Amino acid sequence: MSGPRLRAGVMGWPIAHSKSPRLHGFWLRRYGVDGSYAPVPVPPGTFEQELRRLIDEGWRGANVTIPHKEAALAAADEATPRARAIGAANTLVFGPGGLVLADNTDAFGFLENLKDRAPAWRPDRPALVLGAGGAARAVIHALLEAGAPEIRLANRTLARAEALAAAFGPSVRVLPFAEAGAHLGGAGLIVNTTSLGMKDAPPLDLDLAGAEPDALATDIVYTPLVTPFLAAAAARDLAVVDGLGMLLHQARPGFAAWFGVEPEVDDALRAVMLEP
Ligand code: ATR
Repeated sequence: MSGPRLRAGVMGWPIAHSKSPRLHGFWLRRYGVDGSYAPVPVPPGTFEQELRRLIDEGWRGANVTIPHKEAALAAADEATPRARAIGAANTLVFGPGGLVLADNTDAFGFLENLKDRAPAWRPDRPALVLGAGGAARAVIHALLEAGAPEIRLANRTLARAEALAAAFGPSVRVLPFAEAGAHLGGAGLIVNTTSLGMKDAPPLDLDLAGAEPDALATDIVYTPLVTPFLAAAAARDLAVVDGLGMLLHQARPGFAAWFGVEPEVDDALRAVMLEP
């Protein structure tokens, strides 16, 4: 008896609620790949040990999620420029001789989701970004790489926003969180990267009265799919893009590297991901 030929998974703690196994499982079935994708519980402090175990067992690679994304970058032998710029890795590919290549596909996933769901949007105007955690770092990297002229960054803890701005340079301007709504003029994009609006969390309370009528609103939260912030934006007739697509698109490069097929994001996949 031998198991599937190509093995990959997602390393994190806790990991039971990760939706990545469902996502990759759908693609494995769709493309008839002789492979598997499993959740790998990795308690804090055990990342390197678990990584070596997967390599020794012949795995192709792994996704990495909270709290190990920084440890994944540190443990890698090589890293893509985007992983270095974001300072964290979410995708590892194991090469010959046990070499570990680290990538970060969150910025790619964020932009691909906007291209897919809002093809008319262009990164040619300032963007307002709420939040200064790891997700904000990927979003800001994506927007600056895409050519956004200015990022207006608002976060509850001002010092975290200032640290991010210092890392990215003068095109990132820091604002007090409570004043974000007063800085919507001229912004073509409004992004929530905080956990506000997630199921069981309070909503993001942003006054959208000053938003440009053609601005696009997007949220990285996808449970629920329509957050109170996106609902408020839609009620003002702004274009909105939900956060599920970022999860789906960030998974594409890993699947392609481990299993040898460029997977597609489509409505059938979205429907499977939205099942309870
Ligand atoms: P991630 O890596 O997923 O971005 P994180 O680093 O925990 O997660 O960041 C969560 C973000 O949500 C932060 O910007 C956080 O603000 P602080 O930096 O002030 O903690 C933001 N956030 C969480 N709860 C919040 C709340 N009740 N009000 C405002 N911002 C909140």
